[in-house]
Amino acid sequence: MEFRDVLNKRHSVRNFSEREIPVQVLENIVRAAERAPSWENSQPWNVYIATGDTLKKIKEIWAARYADKVKGSPDMPTGHRTNFSLRSQKSMEDFMGAVAAYSGDPKIAHFLKMNEKLFNAPALVYLTLTKGHTGWPIYDLGGFGLALMLAAKDLGIDSIPAYEIVKFPAELRPLLDVPDDQEIIMGIALGYAAQDNINEFHSTRLPLKDILTIKD
Ligand SMILES: Cc1cc2nc3c(=O)[nH]c(=O)nc-3n(C[C@H](O)[C@H](O)[C@H](O)COP(=O)(O)O)c2cc1C
Repeated sequence: MEFRDVLNKRHSVRNFSEREIPVQVLENIVRAAERAPSWENSQPWNVYIATGDTLKKIKEIWAARYADKVKGSPDMPTGHRTNFSLRSQKSMEDFMGAVAAYSGDPKIAHFLKMNEKLFNAPALVYLTLTKGHTGWPIYDLGGFGLALMLAAKDLGIDSIPAYEIVKFPAELRPLLDVPDDQEIIMGIALGYAAQDNINEFHSTRLPLKDILTIKD
């Protein structure tokens, strides 16, 4: 796929079909993501991918946590909305409003359900960092995650990066063999989009004038 197409066509898919992704393809996607830059080429990332029985167990745990109304307790704290700038708070409000308007449901029940079901994804990617870092590796990991999603899209595989995937790290750790000195930072679901309107939703972006300053 042309680079511009990969960039423009990647968007968050929230309902995946049952079609599996072969292990070799998963390896190719991670290998491509390894081209991401990092501080002094430190390559701080670790990647764990859940498929098959492990994934099934994770989905069962998520269903049970939801049934018990357990709140997420991620390794990286989520903070409060007011930790975001006013502009970001407005963007988030606009996004949720747009999802509600698009789905014709102010309660966005289907959107929430798909989150709870971990988007029915056939593969969940977990990105971890060794604890005690300066904060800079989070920049590296973000670049790695985007490279991974773009590499996937290039192969016709859709994705969504989601907090939802990492909200119960204590349960994930033993299933994925994540050592105690690593924190589970982010999760990315991979798969092929199912036939579902929710997958046709495309979020907007701020005008350049709101984010860009060029001085001469
Ligand atoms: C750090 C991060 C966390 C996210 N968490 C969730 C999530 O828990 N559930 C969800 O449905 N989408 C989640 N998203 C997806 C965003 O809503 C989405 O990336 C954003 O609206 C832009 O839309 P696009 O990815 O379709 O371009 C997350 C994205 C990022 C980068």
